[in-house]
Amino acid sequence: MVSRVIPVPPFDLVIFGATGDLARRKLLPALFRRMQEGQMPEGARIIGAARRKLSRKAFQDFVREALAEFEPSAAQSPKQLKAFMQSLDYLAVDAKGDTGWTGLGKKLRPDTIRAFYLSVGPSLFGEIATRLNKHDIATPDSRIVVEKPLGHDLNSAQALNARLGACFDERQIYRIDHYLGKETVQNLMAIRFANALFEPLWNSHYVDHVQITVAESLGVEGRGGYYDRSGALRDMVQNHMMQLLCLTTMEPPAKFNADFVRDEKLKVIRALEPLRIKDSVRGQYRAGGGEASYLDHVENPDSHTESFVALKVEVDNWRWAGVPFYLRTGKRLRTRMSEIVVVCKKPPHSIFPEMAAQGPNVLVIRLQPDEGITLHMTIKEPGPGGMRLTEVPLDMSFAEALGDGHHAPDAYERLIMDVIRGDQTLFMRGDELEEAWAWIDPLIAAWTEAGDRPKPYDAGSSGPEDALALLHRDGRKWREIES
Ligand code: BG6
Repeated sequence: MVSRVIPVPPFDLVIFGATGDLARRKLLPALFRRMQEGQMPEGARIIGAARRKLSRKAFQDFVREALAEFEPSAAQSPKQLKAFMQSLDYLAVDAKGDTGWTGLGKKLRPDTIRAFYLSVGPSLFGEIATRLNKHDIATPDSRIVVEKPLGHDLNSAQALNARLGACFDERQIYRIDHYLGKETVQNLMAIRFANALFEPLWNSHYVDHVQITVAESLGVEGRGGYYDRSGALRDMVQNHMMQLLCLTTMEPPAKFNADFVRDEKLKVIRALEPLRIKDSVRGQYRAGGGEASYLDHVENPDSHTESFVALKVEVDNWRWAGVPFYLRTGKRLRTRMSEIVVVCKKPPHSIFPEMAAQGPNVLVIRLQPDEGITLHMTIKEPGPGGMRLTEVPLDMSFAEALGDGHHAPDAYERLIMDVIRGDQTLFMRGDELEEAWAWIDPLIAAWTEAGDRPKPYDAGSSGPEDALALLHRDGRKWREIES
């Protein structure tokens, strides 16, 4: 059964920081792909805003070049490219002053949806929000979009929420976590709640433990300044991995709508056991396999920032009592691979003596690359000679199952269109953001107080030995990080 694509109404989308890296690499190509897919409504306008003075023509040239680099297929769609160019406009606006705002107000159409995408550093979020208000550019129905870093700790996240909240209502604020825009992450909800098979088993009676891995092969080169002030816990766990954890563990929302889903996620975050140092492992990559070390990319030669973190987490509620969730993420690991691994308990009683040697059922939900699901099962080994058992994978790659036409859109394609549709389901609510920081902060404080230093690991490896020990001590083992 094919469901209907929800149409997108005409809009005026203003991208602040339109000549910056995110806009060039992600936002503009994503918008163009929506045009290619025929989902850009007639009358959609994209207005670039940045400090630099540029003519409309110069901005169009800038966008054409960005598409040539990041969406080369654009050249094969001349009609759509022309229409996309026509939808573009540009205006120089001073985020910290008063120049340009009146002009911006005049450019926007009175009865058309207004969305303001703040593709700028977080220090400008409040400045821009305030000016949109002061110059009467934001209407009660306008949307404002912000993206990480959304605070550095609980205090700064609260301050940011307060600043945005002074100008916009919560239902107008779209906090992006691009993981929620990933098809496979949304698929987690489809797998859990659109199939009757898994949900009855999805609890402490049947699940032994869960592993969530987001491994990256790239290092921090080029982003050393930001990253060294952040580290893996803030950069990946507080947001992306937290979302994966929430979607894996939350109760079924009564409906797939913004508040129902976000209420359930919030309950999970509130149920998390406080993080303890003994359940955490930090790592920092050193040179290996011809790759430079972390310290080569940051200013501080004695940096203690972690480029890897592994945690044992507990969700202290009825469903998950006693089930550990092991999370790990890191840079410069063996390969790029993200997955959620649900390891089931063994059958309560074995009628096959050989069973003891067999592993439990394991459900692997692969998020990237090559998204899909594998269920590891035990079957009888064919042939006579007794009841011998063997493990086999029941494997499904989504690309194969859905055929060649299957194209996983980039996260931003989905998210920007949801902003225009006014659907906040895949965006973080302010309380969710604050609770996530409230859970992270004490561990960072404890590391600092204890003078905890990250353990070294070789670039191109699976992370520090201590991360293996985190599971070994519980009699468990990580799945290999492999492509
Ligand atoms: C970003 C982090 O939010 O997510 C980066 O700041 C990280 O450090 C990136 O590399 C990972 O995203 P993806 O989509 O490549 O898994």
